[in-house]
Amino acid sequence: MGHQHWHDPACGGAAFLVPIAQRMAQALASEGLGPKAVLKKVEAQISGNDLDKTLLAISTQFLLMALSPYVTRSGYTPKFNLKNCDGLLVTGGEENAPDVIACNPPYRKLNAAETRKYTSRFHDVIRNQPNIYGLFIRKTIDVVRAGGLVGLLTPTSFLSGASFSKLRTSMTECTEVLQLDMLSDRDSMFIAVEQETAITVLRKSPGLGLSQSNPDVSVLSPTGEYTDIGKCFLSKSGGPWPIPRSASDAKLIAQATQWKSRLADYGYTPKVGHLVAYRDERPRFSKKPKLKGQSCVMPILWAGDITVDGLVHGRLTKQKRTDYFVQVPSPNHSSVVTRPCVVLQRLTSSDQPHRLITSAVPAEWLKAHGGFVAENHVISLIANDDCAVSPEILSALLNSPVINRLFKAISGATNVAVSELNELPLPDPNELRKALVHNANINTAVREAFGINA
Ligand SMILES: C[S@@+](CC[C@H](N)C(=O)[O-])C[C@H]1O[C@@H](n2cnc3c(N)ncnc32)[C@H](O)[C@@H]1O
Repeated sequence: MGHQHWHDPACGGAAFLVPIAQRMAQALASEGLGPKAVLKKVEAQISGNDLDKTLLAISTQFLLMALSPYVTRSGYTPKFNLKNCDGLLVTGGEENAPDVIACNPPYRKLNAAETRKYTSRFHDVIRNQPNIYGLFIRKTIDVVRAGGLVGLLTPTSFLSGASFSKLRTSMTECTEVLQLDMLSDRDSMFIAVEQETAITVLRKSPGLGLSQSNPDVSVLSPTGEYTDIGKCFLSKSGGPWPIPRSASDAKLIAQATQWKSRLADYGYTPKVGHLVAYRDERPRFSKKPKLKGQSCVMPILWAGDITVDGLVHGRLTKQKRTDYFVQVPSPNHSSVVTRPCVVLQRLTSSDQPHRLITSAVPAEWLKAHGGFVAENHVISLIANDDCAVSPEILSALLNSPVINRLFKAISGATNVAVSELNELPLPDPNELRKALVHNANINTAVREAFGINA
């Protein structure tokens, strides 16, 4: 601790640098260094960047307060290497490369102009509209010395999101991921943080060329206790990294690597709901009116209409909605779903026990209306002609506890992404059909089809 250079490229108010400086000072003092020598070493061995000048000034004061026993005894006031600059654009030679980086990067989606600014440096990890924290992860790997360690406190969406697929591949190519700590009960650790959060520790290992990393996984409680969950397997393919949240999940995920069937094998295609309520200008109605001419009116399916016990069109939600029908130019309009399908809530949080909340769309209801328009927080899983099971069976499968546990391990984001649904391991549809012949309970049938005994 006493002889390594520690860096935070988005150091803000020094929440990380302060404890690092304190521990470094203690380690050096315990080696017998006097207070001035301690401060000289600490000022040379910690550094940070931030865009916010005020936060950097506060950081300097916090560091001085944290080291005040040494400052008072020596009469020496250290100057800290805190630079007001873009942590993503700084350059430095290998000789100045820090030994350890600790970072809690900013997180938000970059707009098109910002993305252009960073594209030439980060083209190997940018896909779609990137989140800035993904670029910071890549930057920390670039900046730390070869063999050095990086510790990151970030949302968990990089573990599974499609837009982070190139970052995942690059992480497995350039580093060995050593440890993943999933933060339980994030509400008690962070104020107003909606995303699930993790600490990732990795070692820069250029040229290691691992086909996969096998980090240890722990769950970290608000009181700082770690519960070991086991290991997980992070593939290089860019696909989602399933991370267990409990020891029993670890076993399930290990088994799931054998399960090769996916939603496509069931003959269903996901489609995100077309109607974005705040910008859709088509007339909407509380009751189905009779219209003249070509136009027709279709029911709108809102996420609140979908329950694990079935679809209830027009179900009273907290918002007391009154718009349950929308005018469309024709029954064949691209926004209208006419085929048999399952509908699924698109926004569920990772701390809900049920991440997949689905209903089959009843055939009689679909026939009576000729179709429906899904609101944007609904995903329709639309049956192809050769679908392997009915919408009722697919819905029961996706609502089952086993599949929900698997999905929870695969998805670290707050929304249910189409890419994650497509990657979700499912039982072989033939095995499931066979198991359903003698099992009325879907969860028992799913477990039998998967060959799960425990
Ligand atoms: C989540 S906060 C980090 C918190 C920090 N650990 C602390 O102690 O306050 C993210 C920080 O990144 C900074 N930031 C945002 N974009 C940045 C950039 N491009 N370069 C450097 N810092 C940036 C923000 O000003 C903010 O202080």
